[in-house]
Amino acid sequence: MIEVIKSADDLARQNWDVLVPTMGALHAGHESLIKLAKTKGDQVIVSIFVNPLQFENKEDLLNYPKTIDSDLKIAAGAGASAVFLPSESEIYSAGYKKIEAGGVGEIYEGKSRSGHFIGVLTVVNRLFDLVKPKYAIFGEKDFQQLFLIKQMSKKLALSVEILTAPIVRDTNGVALSSRNSKLGDNGIKTASIIYRALSLGNLERARQVIKSELDFKVDYLEMIDANTFDLAKEDTENKRLIIAGWINQVRLIDNMAMGSK
Ligand code: PAF
Repeated sequence: MIEVIKSADDLARQNWDVLVPTMGALHAGHESLIKLAKTKGDQVIVSIFVNPLQFENKEDLLNYPKTIDSDLKIAAGAGASAVFLPSESEIYSAGYKKIEAGGVGEIYEGKSRSGHFIGVLTVVNRLFDLVKPKYAIFGEKDFQQLFLIKQMSKKLALSVEILTAPIVRDTNGVALSSRNSKLGDNGIKTASIIYRALSLGNLERARQVIKSELDFKVDYLEMIDANTFDLAKEDTENKRLIIAGWINQVRLIDNMAMGSK
């Protein structure tokens, strides 16, 4: 059985090699993060905490899927040694430090979800503080989140090393997400347009394809410089297409490095 840790005192009894922060509802994408974590060290801990501070929409928070029994099985099966299940008061105990997300925190996801990245950075920094891992792993699916966590880690000179893992997709090319369970079969089929559009590797063509799918309501679709999050220029080396939108009010995000598929 996997160890379940609920308090910071119990956490402090061990040295953790790798932290895999999650909000639960684990799927094959998380499984890949845990497996990758295992290649970096034996003591892998998965945190599961649905962080109220990063939900600008109360209903979204209340409806966030909770699948703890299956989460424990997936974490154990993928090789984690423990799961950290903190209470809200453990995370947000008196004196916790709020982390500002800066300019990149206010565009794209940050524009549509005001305050979201302050919530993400604050909880991630707090988890780092409690777990004190050598490494922490984040998926590339939340690319702006990953960018901001790396930026925070550099700014605050944190000792944890940030590792990244590629997006895991289903057979339709849809990036795995805990939200996909809300899409239904038709929604998933509609969502496959996102991968088809990104795979074109060209902003204008991607926009045309996305426009043709009336059931996908675009929030943004841009080509950015992955090193800065500025819009890409012709000679930008590290270009990435980023996209977000809604299908039946379910928000989906995705991205793709240019030159990869
Ligand atoms: O990506 C997520 O699941 C969350 O944003 C994270 C990093 C666990 C912080 O709550």
